[in-house]
Amino acid sequence: MALVAQPDLSRLTWPRRTDRLDLRPVTLDDLDAVLAYRSRPEVVVHLSHDELDREQVRERITSRIARGRPGAAEPLLALAVEERAGGRVVGDVMLRLEVSHSIARTPSEEWEGTIGYALHPDVHGRGLAAEAAAELLVLGFRDLGLRRITADAYADNIASNRVLRRIGMRHEATVRAKPLGKDGTWLDDNTWALLREEWLDLAARRSWRT
Ligand SMILES: CC(C)(COP(=O)(O)OP(=O)(O)OC[C@H]1O[C@@H](n2cnc3c(N)ncnc32)[C@H](O)[C@@H]1OP(=O)(O)O)[C@@H](O)C(=O)NCCC(=O)NCCS
Repeated sequence: MALVAQPDLSRLTWPRRTDRLDLRPVTLDDLDAVLAYRSRPEVVVHLSHDELDREQVRERITSRIARGRPGAAEPLLALAVEERAGGRVVGDVMLRLEVSHSIARTPSEEWEGTIGYALHPDVHGRGLAAEAAAELLVLGFRDLGLRRITADAYADNIASNRVLRRIGMRHEATVRAKPLGKDGTWLDDNTWALLREEWLDLAARRSWRT
């Protein structure tokens, strides 16, 4: 199949500033900060990985650095979330990119993204995840020209579902009882989505910058 040109990651500039945060690609200097929350049971309870140790965090960051390089096979931008007041890395967010699926004779030339995030429990409940996730929508739709952005949150992850609703994403589907959760119960999985035109419309109505 013909290769479809990727969104140009080399044109992005860092850090990206929001009201309280700086977002920039994660590096191995962030290892301790990331370990501080991705090693905690309450943080990983809704994530696909278990509590990570130092070596696993190192591998995770190393593979994400490779996937953030322009032209990477499975492109993904992993960004450290730094709270400007204090200059501390309080979490990380990601935007994974893939070419939109096509069942036509020709491949699609459009790309879509999936967002995700995890923050240190010290800073939960202050709206920082919503602030960082909203910036991922700007990055994806405005700077990379994505057609569609989605996010998945298990139904019992109240905070994450609230974040996605707050940043304007649309609840698109709930897949029932998939997968088995860490507590031994089957989890319902909510998919949230937004098309580029929906985001532009929402941004105009809410006076967001686009
Ligand atoms: C999901 C997560 C990033 C949210 O971070 P956060 O900075 O606390 O999020 P925000 O402060 O922006 O918003 C959280 C919202 O959920 C609410 N909330 C948080 N915990 C809650 C709980 N246990 N029960 C009910 N509501 C809760 C907050 O009050 C807030 O609601 P609001 O939008 O009405 O004000 C954070 O909980 C986290 O890192 N969790 C572990 C990793 C994870 O689950 N990632 C998402 C995978 S899909």
